[in-house]
Amino acid sequence: MHFESKSAAALKKSSRYRSRSLSASSNDSYSSASYTGSSSDEDDVSPREKLQKSSSGFSDFCVKNISQHAFGRREIEIAEQEMPGIMALRRRAGDDKPLKSAKIVGCTHINAQTAVLVETLVELGAQVRWAACNIYSTQNEVAAALAEAGYPVFAWRGETEEDFWWCIDKCVNAEGWQPNMILDDGGDATHLMLKKYPAMFKMIKGIVEESVTGVHRLYQLSKAGKLSVPAMNVNDSVTKTKFDNLYSCRESIIDSLKRTTDMMFGGKQVVLCGYGEVGKGCCQALKGLGCVVYVTEIDPICAIQACMDGFRVVKLNEVVRNVDIVVTATGNKNVVTREHMDKMKSGCVICNMGHSNTEIDVNSLRTPDLTWEKVRSQVDHVIWPDGKRIVLLAEGRLVNLSCSSLPSFVVSITAATQALALIELFNAPHGRYKSDVYLLPKKMDEYVASLHLPTFDAHLTELSDEQAKYMGLNKAGPFKPNYYRY
Ligand SMILES: NC(=O)c1ccc[n+]([C@@H]2O[C@H](COP(=O)([O-])OP(=O)(O)OC[C@H]3O[C@@H](n4cnc5c(N)ncnc54)[C@H](O)[C@@H]3O)[C@@H](O)[C@H]2O)c1
Repeated sequence: MHFESKSAAALKKSSRYRSRSLSASSNDSYSSASYTGSSSDEDDVSPREKLQKSSSGFSDFCVKNISQHAFGRREIEIAEQEMPGIMALRRRAGDDKPLKSAKIVGCTHINAQTAVLVETLVELGAQVRWAACNIYSTQNEVAAALAEAGYPVFAWRGETEEDFWWCIDKCVNAEGWQPNMILDDGGDATHLMLKKYPAMFKMIKGIVEESVTGVHRLYQLSKAGKLSVPAMNVNDSVTKTKFDNLYSCRESIIDSLKRTTDMMFGGKQVVLCGYGEVGKGCCQALKGLGCVVYVTEIDPICAIQACMDGFRVVKLNEVVRNVDIVVTATGNKNVVTREHMDKMKSGCVICNMGHSNTEIDVNSLRTPDLTWEKVRSQVDHVIWPDGKRIVLLAEGRLVNLSCSSLPSFVVSITAATQALALIELFNAPHGRYKSDVYLLPKKMDEYVASLHLPTFDAHLTELSDEQAKYMGLNKAGPFKPNYYRY
């Protein structure tokens, strides 16, 4: 779903910008994009037309309403409590200042949790300029808190497309500022710098990218020989992926269904389409609450895993008439079709946990014979001529990103991964990384996990010299080969 304002079209014409896609980059970082309630904003005046000044007279920022900063600061403090890993990194590396003289252009969601990352990077010695990677996800009060603390932040909820690029531009191109690192979520800061400021781009030491789409673009650039700097794909770090896909979804599927439908889970029949990481997490949670869970799969390995875990593997058609809930988590399209939905019983709830919003063929429900009734935010009843109604959540978009909040702990994992990737690229001796896309070294991935262990009072066993020798391992890690499947 592409949309483009007139001014953006003009901008595009002049400098070949990509248009913003609501369904693309900005929403595909599971671990920092989330529904976040924000205080209502009282006026329609564009922040670009307002006088921007903090209480100390600082004015190198553009936010919706600087006077909301105290509220934003409290939000950041709450997030800090549940982000032990990134806070530990802040304490451990604060004296060493591993990011001293790093000048980072950041383009991520701007919410309380990412603010903890921004402040950590500064604590580690970096200078930053920050814009939002999504026009809707900024928590205005948090942006205000960052501006009040003296960080150049350019973001507000409900930016136009033109504002969006203007904000990123303000972070890239400022007087006396030559950035040397990019922290991107969706590839937009990278894209703008590469296209509009190629000389500046050449001075970049490294790019850290979080999202699926951004990483995909980096690989494409690299393939086309246009990537002139090293880039780190943090999206596929093992620790982060486990949290995004398995552990986080295990919790948020329940949260999403509860918040939208107030349902009781015990005894409900659920079919989970796809038994990958996301599907496994969802099944585990639903089973734990007493649901009868069925799984559909195309892959015999995942199917046998589902069997071993005690789930019945079925074809959707075999159970679709009886189930109370249908969840898709395949990453595929048209997994639930109109034909399936025609067979569902009245009251059946359908939602999607996968990336694409075409897993459920929602378009097939937009026919004259069916009536849509919005019953709540993110909840539609679709009513058949005979009175049967199915409950469609978030119109088939990712239900947890649309309807639940994201645990700060999950963002702590991502943020610590991003910070370590920046430190690694910034401090790497010349030649360690070429102009290519890399995964975070496993040792650092292990370090991210270890930063979070003290929260659980978890005590790691150390290898003895004899054991290390026997296993052919360094006592400090890495403990697994790269091909190990966790
Ligand atoms: N909601 C979130 O917060 C969140 C978090 C991470 C990933 N995701 C997205 O969720 C999706 C699944 O992620 P994953 O890590 O579990 O991927 P995965 O590849 O591990 O699992 C997907 C599974 O679906 C199966 N599958 C494919 N087509 C199917 C079909 N027609 N019917 C039944 N099964 C089918 C595949 O065999 C695979 O086992 C992806 O689109 C991913 O981007 C969402």
